[in-house]
This record gives sequence, structure tokens and C-alpha cells, in this order.
Amino acid sequence: MTITEPTPEQLAALKSKYEAAGQGQVFTFYDSLSSEEKTALYKQLAAFDPDYINAIAAKALAPPANDAAKPSSLEPLPDSARASILDSSPDDIARWYGQGLDLIAANKVGVVLMAGGQGTRLGSSAPKGCFDIGLPSSKSLFQIQAERIRKIEELAAAKAGVPAASVSVPWYVMTSGPTRGPTEAFFREKQYFGLRPDNVFIFEQGVLPCISNDGKILLESRGRVAVAPDGNGGIYNALVASGVLDDMKRRGVEHVHAYCVDNCLVRVADPVFIGFSAAAGVDIATKVVRKRNAAESVGLIVAKNGRPDVVEYSEIDPAVAAEEEPDQPGVLRFRAANIVNHYYSVAFLATIPQWAKSLPHHVARKKIPYADLDNGGETVKPAKPNGIKLEQFVFDVFPQLELSRFACLEVRREDEFSPLKNARGTGEDDPDTSRKDILEQGLRWLQAAGAEVQLAEGQPGVEVSPLLSYGGEGLEKYKGQTITSAAL
Ligand code: UTP
Repeated sequence: MTITEPTPEQLAALKSKYEAAGQGQVFTFYDSLSSEEKTALYKQLAAFDPDYINAIAAKALAPPANDAAKPSSLEPLPDSARASILDSSPDDIARWYGQGLDLIAANKVGVVLMAGGQGTRLGSSAPKGCFDIGLPSSKSLFQIQAERIRKIEELAAAKAGVPAASVSVPWYVMTSGPTRGPTEAFFREKQYFGLRPDNVFIFEQGVLPCISNDGKILLESRGRVAVAPDGNGGIYNALVASGVLDDMKRRGVEHVHAYCVDNCLVRVADPVFIGFSAAAGVDIATKVVRKRNAAESVGLIVAKNGRPDVVEYSEIDPAVAAEEEPDQPGVLRFRAANIVNHYYSVAFLATIPQWAKSLPHHVARKKIPYADLDNGGETVKPAKPNGIKLEQFVFDVFPQLELSRFACLEVRREDEFSPLKNARGTGEDDPDTSRKDILEQGLRWLQAAGAEVQLAEGQPGVEVSPLLSYGGEGLEKYKGQTITSAAL
């Protein structure tokens, strides 16, 4: 590899830009670096605009006072913008399902997976999607999701009466600096889980420098800036910058399902959701599950000042959070719990360049290893949060829309949402709850199909391969049979 150090003029120009922005400390060790390290640091720094970093950090640390003071009206979404699988007529659900399958068969549906997070709470060094949650088959989250795509392609082709090979649901997998390499290697090693490699598009979201509590860009070592992925809201810039949006347009994709890697029950490219959203003709739709109780700490989809939005549970007065529907005792008014499962029309995604830069950044206080400037640049691993990461949130785009351009579909939690967030043993949203939720779902499906299931001691259910059934369909052949195996 040839190393091209910056010319003295280039270096001086970049230095003066950082110095003028009060961020000259990033060059502290520059002169003592090897030629290779100098080139790498220069490249890293040249990719950022220090004035922009200062501006977004200042805004994130001190959001404009009038925003907080502005009175906000909070209402559940109006009925016109929402539906629920729990009380929709079976005819409506069947119609959405059929419409969704038709769109899939016409190759108009694509899927975007957000898998750029670092999964710090889970504590695995590999990307979260590679994680084995302990199913009898040992399938990883990536494999489960890939197999659901294969199955839905097959079901759509069967409905349309076309060869399975003529149906493609492209899978766009968003990674980040830390997760890209291992994700690509895993997909290659597992031969794309049986998907066609040309239908899998692994791309990378952006990074932002980490900042000290007093607003200074941190070095991670003498020759490297500490950086972190720019949040799941980085998806918007990345879809454009990485060529994903162009690829969707080239393929004629018009409808997109976007979701998070950590949900083991996710219905990837769910035809019901695609059909519902396409029929509503909206720009964005979102799936929600019912909030368990007034105190559950989940973000809620609401209408805030007349626009779709997500509010954190802490932003809602406890008395308001506990309000019930007047005609449905026991049902919370504010119950639409956000599960980050979105529909986008490609026509809407094409407008990203007009608004992506204006999405706010949020502050995440973290322990960030840093080069101690007063101690020769030795890297220190702090015991307490010592700085911030700047993140955009994927749902911050919602308030850009009129309510009429947004829709919300309530789905059953036990069928569609079980996130993997925490390390084993936590007892909540951990590998054991993920495994149990998949096995119990398989048990429900088999029993609904009329099978007799005999469970071994301690076995919560049966693993049903997505290649056998996407959402409980196709299990009629087990009617009247006794099932004793742990996995089908
Ligand atoms: P979380 O906010 O739960 O983060 O991400 P995480 O990385 O999975 O876990 P912690 O907080 O470090 O323990 C929700 C979803 O958003 C994605 C994650 O991969 C996950 O699917 N995400 C998060 C990104 O794609 N990029 C990011 O920068 C952050």
C-alpha cells in the first residue's frame, strides 16, 4: 500500500480549521506519528467539519430553551391514523396480507435492517445479529431473519403463480465501523443463509467524533479520533450516501420495511404491514404493541402538537399515562408502545436530502476510552462516563409529516416483539427471553394447527423453522400428530 501523507499546505489548512473551531488538540501528537498514522489521522479528521461538530454538540447539550418551554399538546393518534390487528376484521387483515404478498411478488418490496449498534448491554464482542440465543437449531438472529425473507418470497411466488426464483426481496443491512467487517464475514461464512448474495446489500452508516463533557473532540489514541456510530437515525444519510436508495429505485422497489436486528420475533417484510401501509398510501407507518401497564418504561407513538411523534414515558404525566379509554375499561389511552418497526414509501425516502441534516442529535453519556493529552497520549479506560456520543434517532423524522401521511398498526407483542438487549441472566430482554418467546410461539402455532405437542421437562415450546412457516401458516400437515421434537 502506498502511503500518501498530506502535503504541508493541506495539513496547515486542516489544522487551522480545527484550531479556529477550538479543536486543535486533535493534532497534539501528530508530529510524533509514523507516516502511516499521520495519513490515517489526517484522513479521519478531513472527513469531519469541526464547526458542524461544535454546532451539533452545543445544540444537543443545550437544546433551545424555548423548545422546552413551548407548551405541547399530547394526544393518542387519531383513529384515522391507526388500526389494530387485535380488533380489525379478519377480512381486512386477509386483504392487507394478500396485497402485501402481491407487492412482494411484483418485486416492489425491500427490507432495511438496522444493525449498526454496538450492543454494549449484551456484552458480546460479535455483532448482535450473529448472536446465538440458544435455540435447538443454534440459529443466529441474522439467520432467523434471512429465512423469514426466503419464506415470504416463496409464499408470494406461490400466490402469484410465478417461479420462486423470480421473486426477490432485497435485504439492505446497515452496519457501522465496528460491525461491518464481522457482519460481512459472517454472511459469507454462512453463505448468505441461502439468500442470493446479489439480493443482500451490506452498507455502513456514518460515525461522529466522541466529545468530552466540555465539548472537546476526544482522541482514542495518539493517532486516532474516538468515533461512534451516529445513531439509528444515521440510516437516512446512509441510505443515500451508500447507494441503497439508488439500488431500490433501479430495482423498482416502492415499499420498504425497516427494523432492528435485536427483535427475534420480527416479521421481516410482513405482508400485512406492507399491505396496510400501501393501502393507506402513507409516507411512513409504524408498528406498535400495547403498553403493558401505565408504568412500563417505553416510548409511545402519539400526536404531539398535531404531528406524529415519539415521547418517552418520562415525558408523560403519570396521571395522563394511567388514563383509560372511556368505552374500554382497562385499556390505556396512551398505549401505542414503539417497537421501531417502520414502513417507508420509497417516494418519501427520495426526499431524505431535504431534511436529514436537520434531524436533532441526542446526547448519550458513555465511558469512552481516550488518549490522555497530559500523559503522552496513553489510552485511559474510564470507570465512569467521561464524555458523550452524538446520536440521531430514526423516529425523529416523524414530526416532519402531517398526520394524514402517517399510520400506525398495533400488533400482538407475543407474536412480533421480543428484543435482545441485555446479557444472559438479566431476566428481561435477554437471550433466554428471546429463546422462550420463539419456542412458545411455535407451540401456539402447532396447537392452533391441531397438533398434540409433548414437551420435555423445562422445554417452553417448539422451534418452528421460518422455512416451514412464516407466521403460523402451512402447518396443517401436523393436525392430529403428536410432536415430541424440540425443533421442526
Ligand atoms: P439500541 O439503541 O438498543 O443499541 O439499538 P444497541 O447497539 O443494540 O445496544 P446498546 O444500547 O449498545 O446496548 C436499537 C437498534 O438500532 C440499531 C441497533 O443495531 C439496533 O438494531 N442501531 C443503533 C444502529 O443501527 N446504529 C446505531 O448507531 C445505533
